[in-house]
Order: sequence, then structure tokens, then C-alpha cells
Amino acid sequence: MAKTRSPSASSPSSASSASTPAAPPSPPPGATSPTRATKAGLRTAPHGSAPLSPPRVEHVLGSFLATVSGPATPPADEEDGEHLDPGEVPGFVPASAAQRKLVLSKTLVQRGSARMSANPNKAAEHGEANALQPRQGEHAQPLPDDEASGSTRSEENDSEKVGDGRPHSGHNPLAGTLDRVRVDSRGRMLTTNQGVPVADNQNSLKAGLRGPTLLEDFILREKITQFDHERIPERVVHARGSGAFGVFECYDSQEQITRADLFGKAGKQTPVFVRFSTVAGERGSADTVRDTRGFAVKFYTEQGNWDLVGNNMPVFFIQDAMKFPDLIHAVKPEPHNGMPQAASAHDTFWDFISLMPESIHHTLWAMSDRGIPRSYRTMQGFGVHTYKLVNAAGEAVFVKFHWLPTAGTHSMVWDEAAKICGADADFHRRDLWEAIETGLYPQWELAFQVFSAEQAATFSFDVLDATKLIPEELVPLRVVGKMTLDRNPDNFFAETEQAAFCTAHIVPGIDFSNDPLLQGRIHSYLDTQISRLGGPNFHEIAVNAPIAQVHNNQRDGMHRQAIHRGRVAYEPNSLGGGCPHQAGMAGFVSTARRMAPLSESASEIEKLRGKPEKFADHFSQAQLFWRSQTAVEQRHIVDAFRFELTRLTVPAIRERVVSQLLNVDARLARGVADGIGIALPTPQPLAIEELGLAPVMSEVEASAGLSLFARPGNVRCAGRRVALLVADGADATALREVQRRLAEADAVPRVVGMRLGRVLCSQGQPIEIETTVESLPSVLWDAVVLPQGDGQNDAGLSALAADPDVQDFIKQQYRHGKPILAAGRHGRDMLVKAGVPLKLAGDRPDPGLVLDEGQADSGSDEFIAAVGRHRQHEREG
Ligand code: HEM
Repeated sequence: MAKTRSPSASSPSSASSASTPAAPPSPPPGATSPTRATKAGLRTAPHGSAPLSPPRVEHVLGSFLATVSGPATPPADEEDGEHLDPGEVPGFVPASAAQRKLVLSKTLVQRGSARMSANPNKAAEHGEANALQPRQGEHAQPLPDDEASGSTRSEENDSEKVGDGRPHSGHNPLAGTLDRVRVDSRGRMLTTNQGVPVADNQNSLKAGLRGPTLLEDFILREKITQFDHERIPERVVHARGSGAFGVFECYDSQEQITRADLFGKAGKQTPVFVRFSTVAGERGSADTVRDTRGFAVKFYTEQGNWDLVGNNMPVFFIQDAMKFPDLIHAVKPEPHNGMPQAASAHDTFWDFISLMPESIHHTLWAMSDRGIPRSYRTMQGFGVHTYKLVNAAGEAVFVKFHWLPTAGTHSMVWDEAAKICGADADFHRRDLWEAIETGLYPQWELAFQVFSAEQAATFSFDVLDATKLIPEELVPLRVVGKMTLDRNPDNFFAETEQAAFCTAHIVPGIDFSNDPLLQGRIHSYLDTQISRLGGPNFHEIAVNAPIAQVHNNQRDGMHRQAIHRGRVAYEPNSLGGGCPHQAGMAGFVSTARRMAPLSESASEIEKLRGKPEKFADHFSQAQLFWRSQTAVEQRHIVDAFRFELTRLTVPAIRERVVSQLLNVDARLARGVADGIGIALPTPQPLAIEELGLAPVMSEVEASAGLSLFARPGNVRCAGRRVALLVADGADATALREVQRRLAEADAVPRVVGMRLGRVLCSQGQPIEIETTVESLPSVLWDAVVLPQGDGQNDAGLSALAADPDVQDFIKQQYRHGKPILAAGRHGRDMLVKAGVPLKLAGDRPDPGLVLDEGQADSGSDEFIAAVGRHRQHEREG
């Protein structure tokens, strides 16, 4: 008698209704195993051959063989989990192996279903107790026999394509590592998408060598069709971006405040994918425009994916999702002429901003040097909204998330950023890629600001207002772990472009607050990704799939990849043993009802459209931000407003912006008004005054952490690009020495000349030019070393010093505050020819200008220290 296969071959050995069955390991991709039929001895005759034993068909057997109207009499109940031999099913004598299988599976299905006589959870779905503490779904221990759960009795008929038919009980291989989809073509022939080898990839199929191309050419048509559809819609915002994989490591258990497993214990590592972006520009726009930067992190946790979709600024322009389309329509290229690209310096943006006083705080951040970061590696990140952390006991606290770059916070100067748009539109993308390729892995620490609802009620601002931040002096940062980005993607489109971040991707232990901006975002991302990524199944795209198992009854739709066994796609069910069953308290439990209300006011409970009163204070934090900036930063903010407003075509909008700035700071407004040549207008009316509310006083006069200079970082000159200018006659020993010293300090020194090739240095030593002043102009370098002569051949260095491009190069290095090492007489000569002053105003020494008069590398230490400080803002004053 044929037996069903052994339970140990494919089913978990045990699973109880109280626990979630662990997934067995999946076989390695492409692994083959002996066919199941052979192993189980079940298939003893080929398809369509005669029955193996004389038929002893009972009159009810037909009911088992049909797909409608099953047998009237259920087989006797047997103990769960016991193996069934169809020959032992009372009253049925199958005539063939196929019939045996049918009898077996239908009998098992009936038994499984009979184990659930009713839905025992139904009553418990009602009332408050369940709402606060949902139960685990009713489910039975899985039957050990695969026949009870499969879609078809024919699943054992194996092939190279359908596999061995051995179901991997409780396992979804779409979740997990990317190895399962990574393609490597080494040693392979070129094929079509159908796997057919392509004999000739050079020529289309023609009617004769000089004849027309034939429609029959399926290879050409497939290739061109795929190409025609290579592009997908870009993101409606944040279209320009770049990403990398890495890992987040938890420093200490945070289980007292959150049950999120990634914060569960010290040393716990969680894989991440991060995408940085600009907001306004299109996909092909330049990296270094003035804009807010996106900072989106996808944590692949064991409890599912958590996306912390944040920005590099801790506040946002608006308070309510209702205004997001207006904001974006205002900042995007103007609809009549499609200009300007990736820039806020145009009428519609400032028209909107000047009528939305709540946006002034974020606008100050965007006009500050935060809007032109030096590198993704030197940006802070912020979750912006208030979120909640929830522990195992269901107790919730409020939290704000902060990313702190270990490389410190550093920015560009505007002239440099604008020039880089032309010199290297991929500046930030390249910087991130190169840093990872060269092992200088970018790192950020994650910090929480944790506070209670009671504390929040005492703040001068509303923590649900995304235009407000919480000064670190009020709630200190608690550093909880570190993220390291150490893996570039293999394929930009497959991984970065198809990545789908969403604020709704959240895990047990973290929860939303009622921030009305956040609430809108929870809807927006999934909605937009359905059209951007071509349907609802983009969660199956490899980069988006979690490493946690995915099991639910969602089915079908465009591009579905998961092939679900069985016929159960609903819950409750008895035919699938109740699975997948709801997780109860092991799952995500919304905690909104557990939070104490922030106030007892009626507006907390009525259904209405409006804002809490504290949202009406639009200026106190903009003032705080302004006061917290250094003089250099304040000057840059004024300059940025001047630049942006100068480009407007409507004078009334300029005036309205200045009238709003008057509510922030008179000096700021005066500086901008002077810059655009207008008289100071009257300040805009204050909403709080019109509402009769008391003026809001910020709890702190200034907050140190709001200045970029507060976090210089600890990586010194790692990754900084240093140009070593050379020409014939340069001192090779000095050059090599400074090159060695910079490399030791993890900087990236490169020999730069007028054109590729070699120069002849001292004692006839040839030095290879790596790149040129023309192809990598000054703005792409963080510092420059001007060559020392060998004292014999002055002609080459004199020509270098006289070259207008070289003079521009040096002048810009100086103007942009970059360290310069000028070695010997020739170095000094080049500075003078470029018009660089050797002292700061008031005859003060310039700490970024190292005049190395002595031996080969006597100035190296001082120069390396200056490179570590990044920029000499003293030159501006
Ligand atoms: C109601 C307000 C907002 C709405 C409706 C909204 C909507 C969107 C949409 C539709 C996308 C494109 C998503 C895609 O195609 O995959 C997007 C991307 C993004 N948004 Fe928002 N957004 C809002 C506010 C914010 C805020 C406040 C932040 C920062 C805290 C933010 C950060 C981001 C980031 C970082 C991305 C890019 C994600 C990626 O790299 O793929 N958004 N947003």
C-alpha cells in the first residue's frame, strides 16, 4: 500500500495554537532533490496509464473524484496529526494511485475542517477588552500531511520548473536575503527573456543582406520592447536620490520603553537600506541644489520592515497633510513653462511661503547651510514627527528620532554648491558610492528624545506640530545605536529606484502620534507607489521584501510572484487549519487608546476640521533657530534669502517675505531688505495676537545643537579630496611625502595637472597626472597643495602659476574657505598670482593657509589639521 510521505520531510515537527510556527530553512536556490514520488513510492504508474490494481470502486468513490458535491458521509474522526492510509478509510477502496491521493486528501481536509466546529473568537471581537488586547487567531496544529493544505493533488508531479513539489511548510521564500534574486552572468551565453540562446546580437533579421527588417524578428522586438519600457514614473517628490545597504547595531537594550526587537538587546544587528534624496528636483537633476534632503531608512527587522522616512531638517513647512499638494505645486517647476528645475528661487514658491507663516521656521532651515550639505555623510537626519514607543506592557512614551553623523555636520558655501551643479551633477551620489567602495563607511548614531504626554503638555509648543522641534536642552538626546552603510547596491534601478519607503511600515513597539501631517503620510506613500511601481505587489520586489516571513490572504494583482498553495485565502477558515491566524498580542497593537489625552478640551473629541491653538504660534521657534546660529551662519541665511528673492519677478512677493521675516528678527529682515534694495515693510499680523493668545516664549534662549558648528564630527580629514597641483620642475620628494601623509590620514590625495600624461619632477623623476584642472575643477576639491619647485627647472611651475584656469582654481579654493598648503617660493608665488591675500583682515594669520617655507613636509601637520576643520569661515568676515 502506498504511504503518504513522512511528516518530517516537509512539516514542522510540532506547532501549537499558542505559538507561531518557525519557518524551516528553505533549500538553496536551484537545489534539486530526488523526486517526491520516487521517495514516497507513491507514483507507481505514469500519467494516464491503467490502474495498478483491479478496481474495487465503491458507489461513493465518485464523490471523491469530482470537484462538486463531496461525499455525504464524513469519515470517522481520528486524532489530529495521525497519518492516514487511504486503504484504511472506512468504506472506500480506491482503484489507482491518483484515486488514493484524492481520497486521502479529501479525508484529511474534512478532518482538519471538522476540528473547528465554530469560530471561538467571534464573541471576543467585541468590546473594549479585545480592542486593547486582541487575541491570537484560532488555529489548529498543522496536519502533518501536505495533502490537506495543497492546491492540487498533482503537486507531487515534479519537474525542473515546478520543483519537487515538497512544500516548505509555513515558509514564504519571497522574504529573505537578496541572494535568491541576484543574477551573475559569468560564463553564460546571451539569451532572450525566454531563455533562448541568441546566435547574433549584432544584426536584425532582414529579407536579404540589404533588405528590410522582418516583423518575424522576435529577438529584435523583445529587446526593443523591453528597452521602450525601461523607465518607470519617477517619485512625485524626492525623485533624485541615491541609496546604500548597511546595518544598524543597538548599543543597549531599550526594552523598558519599546518592544521593537531591533532595540531589544545590546549588540543586536538589523540590516538596513537607506536612500538620501532632494525633494524638488526631477530624477536627473543636480545633487547640490539648495533643498531639504530626504533621509529614509528601511530597517529589515525580525518583526517586519520599519521605515523611518525622515529629512535632514527636524521641522517641516506645513502642519497638516491637507497642504502638502499645495506646497509641492508651489515649489516644483512652474506649470506654464516648466522652470526652474530643482530650485525654490521662483515666484510660486515664495508666493505660497509668504502666505503661510507656519512655514517660516523650515524655510530658515532651508536657507541656512543645511540646505546645501557637503555630503550625505555629513547630514543629520530627523524623523520630524513625534512618534510613540511602546513596551511589552503596552505603556507608551513619545519619541523624536535623530540621526547624528559621526563625520560631523558640514555644508558647502553657496557659490561652490551652485558651481558643482555644473561640474558634477552627481556629487553627493558619487561621494556616497566612493566612500563605501573605499571602505570609509558612513556612520550615524541614532538618538531618541523620549518624553511623556504629561511633559508634552507643559511645552510652549504642541508636539503634534511638525513645524516645531524639541530643543535638546528640554529633552536630551539618548543615543541608542549606530548605523553603518557598508554595501553599495548591485543595480541602481532594481534596488534604489524600486525602493518603496512608507511611514505606514511600522513594527510592534513603535506607533504613530496624532500629528496631522504624519496621519496624511500614512496614506500617501502606499497610494503613490501603487502607480509608480505598477500595482499593489511592489512589496515583493526584492529590495522591499522583508526578511521576516510574510503570510496573509492578500492575493493577485499585477506582477504577483508568490505562488500560494491551497485554496484558502480568507480568515477565519477551517480548511487551512485557521492559518495564517491573527497574531494577537504578538502582533502590532495600536496604542492610541492608551495615551492620556493632551488636554481635556472638547476639540479632542469632536469630529471637526481645525488646529490646536498652540499651532498658531508660527514664529517663536524660527526666532530660536535664528538666535542659535553663529554669525557666519546668520550671514549665509541672509545671503540665501537675497539670492532667492532677487530671482522673483513679482515685487509684492519679495516684500511679503520680508514682512514675514520681520516677525523673526529685525536684523535678518533688514539684511534681506537691503540685499534686495527695498525699504522695510510693516510686519505681517501675528495669528496668536489676532486670536487673543499670549505671546509664546521659547523655553530656551538659544539651542546649541541647532548650529551646524555644534557637531564637527570625529573623522577629521577622512574622505576629503585634496588636489596636489604639479607641473614640470615640481619637487617630487616633497610631493610624495605630503601625499603619503594625507593618505595615512584617510584623505584622498590626487595629482592634478594641466593635462593627462607625465610631468618631469626633480631629478628627472616622472610623476603621473591623475586628473586635470579642467575635468575636476576647484569646487570638487576640499583642499589644495601648491607645488614646491626643485630649484632647477622653473619654467613648468611658472607656466602653471600664470595659467588663468589654475589661478581661478586657487582663488576659488580660497574663496570657499578651503585649506591651502603652499610649499616654498613657487607655492607662495602661485598664491600671489591668483590674488590670494596671505593674511586675514586686520593682519591676522589665516589658519587655513599653510605657507610651508621649510623642508619637504614641514607644513603637513598643520595642513592636515586644517583639512580636518574642513573650512576657514574666517576669510568671509
Ligand atoms: C503630508 C505630507 C507628505 C506627503 C503627502 C508626502 C508624500 C510623499 C510621496 C508621495 C513621496 C514619493 C514616494 C514614492 O514614490 O515612493 C514621498 C517621498 C518622500 N517623503 Fe514625503 N510626504 C510628506 C511629508 C514628508 C515629510 C514631513 C517628510 C520628512 C519627515 C517626508 C520625507 C520623504 C522622503 C524622505 C521621501 C523619499 C523616500 C525615498 O527615498 O524613496 N515627506 N513623500
